[in-house]
Amino acid sequence: MDRDSLRKDYIELVASVREYVEEQLQFGFIEAELSEPTEESPYADFDLPALATDAASCTKCPLHETRNSVVFGVGDTSADLMFIGEAPGADEDRHGEPFVGRAGQLLTQIIEAGMKLKRENVYIANVLKCRPPGNRNPESDEVETCSPYLVRQIELIQPKVIVALGSFAAQMMLGTKTGITKLRGEFHPCNVPGLRVLPHKQPPVVMPTYHPAYLLRNPNAKRDVWEDVKKVLAFLPGT
Ligand code: URA
Repeated sequence: MDRDSLRKDYIELVASVREYVEEQLQFGFIEAELSEPTEESPYADFDLPALATDAASCTKCPLHETRNSVVFGVGDTSADLMFIGEAPGADEDRHGEPFVGRAGQLLTQIIEAGMKLKRENVYIANVLKCRPPGNRNPESDEVETCSPYLVRQIELIQPKVIVALGSFAAQMMLGTKTGITKLRGEFHPCNVPGLRVLPHKQPPVVMPTYHPAYLLRNPNAKRDVWEDVKKVLAFLPGT
């Protein structure tokens, strides 16, 4: 191949890459989706305040009948680090804020005393926004109905790392049924169908670890969680 045709190919390649990037920038987001395509999220154009307002009056599943509050999320909406739990408990349902009961106090300790971060500088949310009665496990149809809120929260916050607390959050973030003991301790690519990221951003990575409520029952597992969050800190220098 002669120099002129190589040069021509190169110029064409640069032009087509530029055209692609410009298109993506104009659109605003690119799909980070790694699994099967899904229908467009009903919240694709919502910002966080609009999403929170919508969630506050949600009646899409029976949990609205027994809740006192919709527990949307709390923290820095441009945080690099996001924690995702399972569902509000009684204290969270009363206060409208995630992780404020006993398990929440332990999470705050992990963030503040362990990781030396401020709770208000990370973002904290749950898979479900409403409390399952009696703190039972979330049902799969409740997770399916509620998950578009969390997916849109992740899209808007664009964290670099998601710490998935317990099986429900980990399995949702990774699109798997594997249990937390097998998943924890390693970074995994986020595998949430339909999740979009801005073109200049990477999709978040996920660090599954034990849920703080499990740590209350099994204090020995705190050692494992400490190993997991040290990896997160190493991944996010300067946080
Ligand atoms: N457990 C959770 O998973 N989330 C909370 O907000 C509180 C307890």
